[in-house]
Amino acid sequence: MIAAREQLKADINQLVVYTSTQAHSSIEKAARVAGIKPENFHLIEVDADYRMCPELLQQQIVRDIQSGLIPFYIAATVGTTSSHAIDPLTEIGAIAQVHNIWLHVDGAMSGTAAICPEYQWIHQGLELADSYCFNPHKWMLTNFDCTCFYVKDRAKLIHALSIMPEFLKNQASTSGKVINKAIYSTQ
Ligand SMILES: Cc1ncc(COP(=O)(O)O)c(C=O)c1O
Repeated sequence: MIAAREQLKADINQLVVYTSTQAHSSIEKAARVAGIKPENFHLIEVDADYRMCPELLQQQIVRDIQSGLIPFYIAATVGTTSSHAIDPLTEIGAIAQVHNIWLHVDGAMSGTAAICPEYQWIHQGLELADSYCFNPHKWMLTNFDCTCFYVKDRAKLIHALSIMPEFLKNQASTSGKVINKAIYSTQ
């Protein structure tokens, strides 16, 4: 979310986040950490299968633009915490592209299922996402915490969080060959 915020360089008070009423609370927490105004965190209603309604998302985005706000981040979920609902990524991704909004796909709960070929359909439309995560520490029985986070353009993430003071510079961090996401090197 911070990478999405930084690439826009817009007034933070105008930035709007969208996710469904069924999304995990970590999305709202991320919005707080990123400094998004609470009233600009918009929950979109779901259908009878608890999936985000793309039409309602589209309508809310248009309303917000008309009010002078800047839609900048949508979090869709592949496997909601309460019911494993899978948001329609293809439709949501198309909306994100039209309005130039960062699309994050939260597969923390159920993304691991796609390891099985017969469940790979759950990621239909994922190619439209800017970022994606799933949690091996859930169904893969690894130690807590283990989240795999993917980003389409890693330069945006690194740029957003790069701080390279003298004491973090060394042969590896300045070589351009080593990517240390823990210190968000400039590489
Ligand atoms: C859909 C979803 N997203 C995000 C999370 C957050 O996962 P964690 O804090 O374990 O990385 C969870 C946890 O249950 C989840 O179900």
